[in-house]
Amino acid sequence: MDRPRILSGVQPSGKLHLGNYFGAIRQHIQRQDQGDCFYFIADYHALTSLREAEEREKAIAAKNKAYLPRPARQILAENIRDVALDYLALGLDPKKVIFFRQSDVPEVTELAWILSTVTGMGLLERAHSYKDKLAKGITPNVGLFTYPVLMAADILLYRSHLVPVGKDQEQHLEMTRDIAGAFNHAYGEVFPLPQAVFNDTPVVPGTDGQKMSKSYGNTIEIFAEGKALERAVMSIVTDQTPLEAPLDPERCHVFALYKLFATPQEVEEMAARYRAGGFGYGNAKKALLAKIDAYFAPARARRKALERDPGYIEEVLAEGARRARAVARTTLQLVRERLGLLRSPAT
Ligand code: ADP
Ligand code: TRP
Repeated sequence: MDRPRILSGVQPSGKLHLGNYFGAIRQHIQRQDQGDCFYFIADYHALTSLREAEEREKAIAAKNKAYLPRPARQILAENIRDVALDYLALGLDPKKVIFFRQSDVPEVTELAWILSTVTGMGLLERAHSYKDKLAKGITPNVGLFTYPVLMAADILLYRSHLVPVGKDQEQHLEMTRDIAGAFNHAYGEVFPLPQAVFNDTPVVPGTDGQKMSKSYGNTIEIFAEGKALERAVMSIVTDQTPLEAPLDPERCHVFALYKLFATPQEVEEMAARYRAGGFGYGNAKKALLAKIDAYFAPARARRKALERDPGYIEEVLAEGARRARAVARTTLQLVRERLGLLRSPAT
């Protein structure tokens, strides 16, 4: 394969955080020279959890009388804009990458429907992410159940080869391969079987030590700054070891996060300070805060400049949609031919 097609998507479901960056965004940007890249903002997917986002807003407003809860449409529109700004500020180059909003290419929903007819119920019933949501007591909508079919359509519509994602998406990629195989088997080869590519960052811990996630309220946002960033870093949970005692770096979430930003030598030095005693978690947090602040400073400046030019974001997404749509239509034409769904001449 000379130039692979590389595709990935991220849901606009809240402010992006260090887990999203080290687990996904960083490698998306690193790969933009390695193939024909399609990156998109998965807004249709985000609809499956928009009601919960609205409930979270109401909960914040109930605690903080000064907070005006945003209606669903405003939450989604702002989240989409934030993801676009974040990617561009972090180094995505729209000349190299086709960067677009999922719903700007509505052909994906047609392919999702077609693929749903070669997808067994059992396959979807085994999805971990769906089962986890049920276990959390969420009342599922049909969209949540068929989420993996829409994701398969995202990937197959562009006949992608490589899909860089975090480990938590592994099963979704396996399902996509199953669905592509079922279609090819029934109607003849159309789709390459896509490969997931994982990066070497293990799960990034949140401030409470669980996986950092928008839905756990334990995130450190990529673009937090000043007091808000300080508050997030200082809230990282540590144990009760007294200040004078030696600390075990391998059991500390602050250290785990520090490792993401520091050179191997700095990591060694920090580990030695932990083990020597008399250091304290407060100093470790300050060192981490300085690292995060310095690492994202250039991206923060770029983001502020981009924010002043909303027309540019719209232009980038419109151009991305135009290019993505041309590829999508070619694939759908082929799919329709295979199915005997030829368009009536007048349409
Ligand atoms: P969240 O759990 O915050 O809602 P998403 O499910 O939208 O995050 O994930 C977007 C991308 O970021 C996915 O590729 C996912 O694997 C990656 N990702 C999210 N959280 C982490 C984490 N804590 N560590 C590593 N990767 C993560
Ligand atoms: N499900 C992915 C996530 O939550 C987002 C996503 C939607 C995606 N469609 C995709 C990722 C296609 C890769 C390819 O992170």
